[in-house]
Amino acid sequence: MEQLLQQIEAIKAEIAATVANTPEQVEQFRIKYLGTKGLVKEIMGEMKNVPNEQKKEFGQILNAFKMVAEEKMQQLQSALGDSDEQTAKFDFTLPGDPVAVGTRHPLNLVRNQMVSIFKRLGFAVAEGPEVEDDWHNFGAMNLPEDHPARDMQDTFYVQEASENNAAWLLRTHTSSVQARVMETQKPPIRVICPGRVYRNETISARAHCFFHQVEGLYIDENVSFADLKQTLYFFVQEMFGKEVKVRFRPSYFPFTEPSAEMDISCQICSGKGCNICKHTGWVEILGSGMVHPKVLENFGIDPEKYTGFAFGMGVERIAQLKYQVNDLRLYSQNDLRFLEQFKSV
Ligand code: DAH
Repeated sequence: MEQLLQQIEAIKAEIAATVANTPEQVEQFRIKYLGTKGLVKEIMGEMKNVPNEQKKEFGQILNAFKMVAEEKMQQLQSALGDSDEQTAKFDFTLPGDPVAVGTRHPLNLVRNQMVSIFKRLGFAVAEGPEVEDDWHNFGAMNLPEDHPARDMQDTFYVQEASENNAAWLLRTHTSSVQARVMETQKPPIRVICPGRVYRNETISARAHCFFHQVEGLYIDENVSFADLKQTLYFFVQEMFGKEVKVRFRPSYFPFTEPSAEMDISCQICSGKGCNICKHTGWVEILGSGMVHPKVLENFGIDPEKYTGFAFGMGVERIAQLKYQVNDLRLYSQNDLRFLEQFKSV
């Protein structure tokens, strides 16, 4: 008996010391210890020689011994790298799990389209800060402090004017970027300025406290109102297709003279009349005009030599006409059910 116990201990030590680096070595281990003619079987066979009164105790020892060999076998297999086994089981021809891909925001889509159309006409993109001082947003644009036209745009002030400091505000229009550009560039100037603007409006389907505009500015010698009309006409045809009709209405902006608003035929009802066009068949999409001589003078540009046109339009409005979204709030609610609809656009 003693001898058998010693033999078991020796085999256990041998098992513990075994290393196997290849599948063949693991197989050799299996054959040597766990095979039909393996050592475990052989030792188990000794059971018949064990006296009856020791059979119970010995049975436990032998079982534990067998477990040692089996556990080692498992260890060796997994140490070899499950990868081999998994690779064998893995079907590489199965389609992969779908990866969720985000979508561009509809306003970005429309803004990008607008930018690319004007780029083809030679306009460069210019940007400016969203927190502006009074001068760039209003003063330079021919809206002095006491000017009633300031009421056209309800303003969020960040800091009120004091004796030594100008007022700071969230820009109410991208026309402020015109001022930034004229400050640093000399004519010829041909820029568009996309960006976010802010107004102190009650949020509803038709108004929001922030929205987006694209401003345009073109200053050179001999720029005429005809150039303005043709540029904008080209833009709407590219944006909405050749069928679109346009009309200009006289208007007023302090920074342009003359000024005009441009309407296009309603893209929702094709001019038949609906609630988007208030049953007129026309939708206003932008303000525009010839840059006011005073604005040019504010930046040392000689109005006798140079003329220019400018325009400003709302990105939300263009997006509304393109995608028939009639509630402005949808653009900022981040509802995936809304945003996902622009996946294939
Ligand atoms: N800044 C005007 C607004 O926010 C839009 C505008 C009108 C811009 C006429 C212009 C312009 O450049 O010439 O309502």
